[in-house]
Amino acid sequence: MHKHKKRIAQRAQDISPFYVMDILAQAKRLEAQGHDIIHMEVGEPDFDTPQPIIDAGIAALKMGKTHYTAALGLPELRQAVAQWYQDQYNVTLSAERIVITPGASGALLLVMGALLEQGKKVLLADPGYPCNRNFARFVEGQSQSIAVDATSNYQLTAAHIEQYWDEDTVMALVASPSNPTGTVLSKQQLSELSAAITAKQGHFVVDEIYHGLIYDGLKATTALEVNPNAFVINSFSKFFGMTGWRLGWLVIPDGYQDVMDRLAQNLFLAAPTMSQYAALSAFNSDTLAILEQRRHYFEQRRNTLLPELQNIGLEIEVTPQGAFYIYANCRQFLNEQIPDSMALSKYWLQKAGVAVTPGNDFGHNKAEQYIRFAYTADTQRLLQAVERINTIRK
Ligand SMILES: Cc1ncc(COP(=O)(O)O)c(C=O)c1O
Repeated sequence: MHKHKKRIAQRAQDISPFYVMDILAQAKRLEAQGHDIIHMEVGEPDFDTPQPIIDAGIAALKMGKTHYTAALGLPELRQAVAQWYQDQYNVTLSAERIVITPGASGALLLVMGALLEQGKKVLLADPGYPCNRNFARFVEGQSQSIAVDATSNYQLTAAHIEQYWDEDTVMALVASPSNPTGTVLSKQQLSELSAAITAKQGHFVVDEIYHGLIYDGLKATTALEVNPNAFVINSFSKFFGMTGWRLGWLVIPDGYQDVMDRLAQNLFLAAPTMSQYAALSAFNSDTLAILEQRRHYFEQRRNTLLPELQNIGLEIEVTPQGAFYIYANCRQFLNEQIPDSMALSKYWLQKAGVAVTPGNDFGHNKAEQYIRFAYTADTQRLLQAVERINTIRK
């Protein structure tokens, strides 16, 4: 018998795990033992998919919509998404520029696959969505993570582009509202970033997955309002509450249809058909009314949770204006026994039954001092969580 030799390509070895998965696994173990755990670690809405979308999905299945669609997506859905840009942002797009993907994840893979290659670089903010640098690695490109802080609202700025762009850089990727900080880029900031990147003949890629979940009466600006050639990523996961349906989209400039078609065909063939039919109901007025109500609940939760966290000594340097996250500095909770945010997350989970995400899931920039709270539980549970972590404080 030959001994089986395990082989894992370097590219795969370099992909980092989500540290929060350790927390999640431990939370599940504790729950199995009968402990009550308050989940503030998971990056998805606690609400189920709105009923009209579920009904449309069931109807599609009953009608036999169980086959592949075209690789770029169902034409009616591409049209509906294009119409959404008209209605929401007054941006006119042809349906040809919309690519339907398996989640924003599929869109990230397409855009990185099309634009990045060995020796070429993408600029990213740290902290930021952890998969971005892993996608860059996966397509053999490089990522440069730029440490951001409260002085730039935890976002990349035109000054960062000036400072970090070099001859190998081909693109910059930002998210607004961002994960993990929930900060939003204003139209002015988007415009300045776009101008700086365009001056370098680079590509501006904007992840707008948390659009729709915006507070304080703000209106989100899509990057397409300031740069018609931006690549824009979005998804049905967060605002539309469809994480498990695996459906998102990518807006591409004209001229990229062919490459995206070839990549989509080869990488995943098409996004899930039943999900695409279901999503046709996502833009109906009855669905949008449900979603607006939920947006309102998220805003209320943020308004309740944020001052409570501050009261117990967590420092929140920037007020999140979107998404459902609060990124808090926890240095006042650290000591010799609990030296960093990872240890603190484990301590809170074990002693208080509160699950959160440690900063090192989002990069290296002072990550050991930060915790991300997701307000994906109802207000009463959020308050209970704060009380519990305060009670066990050493
Ligand atoms: C900023 C950001 N982009 C992309 C994704 C991927 O989402 P999905 O593939 O479910 O659309 C997430 C998920 O948490 C995210 O936070």
